[in-house]
Amino acid sequence: MKIGILISGRGSNMVALVDAVASGEIPDSTVAIVISDQPDAAGLPKAEELGVETLVIEKNGRKRAEHDAEIIAALKERDVEFVCLAGYMRLLSPDFVRAFPNRIVNIHPSLLPSFPGLDVQQQAIDHGVKISGCTVHFVNEDLDAGPIILQRVVEVKDDDTADTLSERILEQEHRAYVEAIRRIVSGRLSIAGRRTAYSEISDKS
Ligand code: GRF
Repeated sequence: MKIGILISGRGSNMVALVDAVASGEIPDSTVAIVISDQPDAAGLPKAEELGVETLVIEKNGRKRAEHDAEIIAALKERDVEFVCLAGYMRLLSPDFVRAFPNRIVNIHPSLLPSFPGLDVQQQAIDHGVKISGCTVHFVNEDLDAGPIILQRVVEVKDDDTADTLSERILEQEHRAYVEAIRRIVSGRLSIAGRRTAYSEISDKS
């Protein structure tokens, strides 16, 4: 599967995915391109070091649909079949979602549907929840709302700050994202409405 990854910042989830493709943990796949809307995204040099083509496509005051059209064109030029959002800080336009139906996924640092949006680790602490975690989900036209593929749970400790909680969630994000893409690539993940299901291969045969 030809994967394109969109980032806006640090890019640690992007690195986890590129590494997993390189090691074969995500099999039969290549990362064709990493695109950032931010020219100074720290993830860009990391992707280059890993030998992945990078591209900056800034919004430059354009409408979302125009900006997205340029990104879609760059992805299609490289025959990208599947898009991973990895800390990409923009909501996609409906046209973008339609260009890759059920072929865009995102990672979010909370247990959705709790705490969609931004600053969610602080929101989790402020709300007083005892567990949080991360969610890998398909992207639809609503923010952080598409069918859930996989979640991993992290305990919220009494003395957690947004930083300490974010750090522990991030460790789980890297594992969850790789596992979710591995399941998708295997062709054994199905979607029915809001629900996804993954069928493990039984080795008893
Ligand atoms: C992660 O916490 C991700 O869940 C959220 O933005 C952060 C990006 O981190 N959407 P990184 O750029 O992958 O290091």
